[in-house]
Amino acid sequence: MFTRSLLAVVMVGLATSALAAETPMLGKPISPADLAPWDISIAPDGAGLPPGKGTAKQGKQIFFEKCSYCHGEGGQGTPADRLVGGQGTLTSDTPIKTIGSYWPYATTLFDFIRRAMPLNEPQSLTNEEVYALSAYLLAANDIVPMNTTLNAKSLPKVKMPNKGNFFIVYPRNDVAAGP
Ligand code: HEC
Repeated sequence: MFTRSLLAVVMVGLATSALAAETPMLGKPISPADLAPWDISIAPDGAGLPPGKGTAKQGKQIFFEKCSYCHGEGGQGTPADRLVGGQGTLTSDTPIKTIGSYWPYATTLFDFIRRAMPLNEPQSLTNEEVYALSAYLLAANDIVPMNTTLNAKSLPKVKMPNKGNFFIVYPRNDVAAGP
């Protein structure tokens, strides 16, 4: 008898927690101002890019001051990742993966640099500095000219050389569905 009533108590408990899951009554709605610092994802098509602009020339100087001691002069690498060059090496025995040789979307540069770099001081750069650094790294990879200015309109239009080599593996439409 004892076990049965215990079971009943457990079942009531489960039913209550299922209800509670629908209306947890915890926390409070987040304000747009509090959400903004977290809402920084940039989509491949550029959705979410902020206002502002920057030139490759400005980016070259910022890179020299804030990035080259980890990424090497001109982004050639060491101690941290090489960011420039390597185009055409991906199918060789010694592939070199960089922004220029590998990345499919230019917009990822803005997202990643603003979010994560410089490694020792992430999210310390202004949007202008991030546009400038994106422009510089694309220019150093010979994807845009050195006199380029990038903003929310022009960055998504930059075509990355390796874009066409990415394809969707799943769901596959080249094999028949299972039994
Ligand atoms: C203190 C060292 C350090 C500094 C300074 C630094 N980085 Fe990095 N960076 C790294 C490391 C380490 C990684 C690899 C991080 C990872 O894979 O998660 C990286 C990765 C990157 C990548 C991605 C490379 C790839 O192909 O995956 C980019 C782009 C980049 N950094 C840009 C910058 C820029 C621009 C600056 C200057 C504003 C900068 N970094 C400053 C250490 C640094």
